[in-house]
Amino acid sequence: MNIENLLRDNIKTIKAYSSARDEYKDASSDMVFIDANENPFQTNVNRYPDPQQYKVKSKLADIKGVKPSQILLGNGSDEILDLLFRAFCEPNQDNVITLPPTYGMYSVLADLNAVEVKTVLLDENFEPEVEEILITQNNNSKILLLCSPNNPTANSFNANKLEELIIGFKGIVVIDEAYIDFSNQESWVNRLDHFPNLVVTQTLSKAYGLAGIRLGVCYASGFIISILNKIKPPYNINQLTQNKALERLNDLDGVKQEVSSILEQRSLLAKALSQIPFIKEVYPSDANFLLAKVDDANQRYSQLIKSGIVVRNRTNQLLCDNCLRFTIGTEEENKLLVKILNQL
Ligand SMILES: Cc1ncc(COP(=O)(O)O)c(C=O)c1O
Repeated sequence: MNIENLLRDNIKTIKAYSSARDEYKDASSDMVFIDANENPFQTNVNRYPDPQQYKVKSKLADIKGVKPSQILLGNGSDEILDLLFRAFCEPNQDNVITLPPTYGMYSVLADLNAVEVKTVLLDENFEPEVEEILITQNNNSKILLLCSPNNPTANSFNANKLEELIIGFKGIVVIDEAYIDFSNQESWVNRLDHFPNLVVTQTLSKAYGLAGIRLGVCYASGFIISILNKIKPPYNINQLTQNKALERLNDLDGVKQEVSSILEQRSLLAKALSQIPFIKEVYPSDANFLLAKVDDANQRYSQLIKSGIVVRNRTNQLLCDNCLRFTIGTEEENKLLVKILNQL
């Protein structure tokens, strides 16, 4: 597969903005920096941040076993997805394929970029309908967006089905692994070298507990990353974010401990929810949330709000009739949730 042929024509030839720090990289050297129109007085952030985020990428590359040139960082994974649309999808001409029910930003970003969304509903087990997806694609289908573990259904997709899709789809296949750290599935980052059209996105917003700093991570071939690098805003990852991300990436034991506590709480909460009379089904979860079918989602949602608990009402999503989504909280929060549900 020739990935270059999938790019929009204007992107094939685009010239990246060259920032001051791209031209003279060694910001830590003992030079006088009067090249970037910064304020010379020290505030700790008076200098522009590293546009290539060298330290954060080196750390992530070590952890994930990829090359730094296979990593692009974004202002949340949402920015990364937006860059992919801009690189591959010609407005008012190309389309992407999504598999509802899934993460809502895919269609928002498509609308924003004037890109048609073709949808192929998941099956009754929330798995992709491989054949139908491959039949649905046409010559203008540029991106297939797969979310595994999927939000809001919480399951990971079958790995063989995903492989069939990566091989059978003629465009870029994005696997959004925002919740991968809560699952036992192997990350597709480990398979990047086998599939030139594969892009994997992850985030520090979930398992790493850093939703507030907005750091999404994209793993792909060096070629795809080099294209995204050309079109990203020059200083898209601010200095405070880079510092905080590095601090957290140097404390993987702390991250692991929090994840295992969330996993323990997830199984306790799943058990407790399944014993509540008006909860009809608690779906298996590979994520940091549980999807549950209740008797009347709108009513239960309002009752919970009145009791001071905010959950996500997913009843309007396809296949999610009367479903509520519960993020796993602390032990105290989960106990309070169960206590209140039992009182309703
Ligand atoms: C599947 C999925 N992808 C991406 C995101 C957003 O990630 P980020 O915070 O990195 O933009 C979310 C957030 O809820 C999500 O559910």
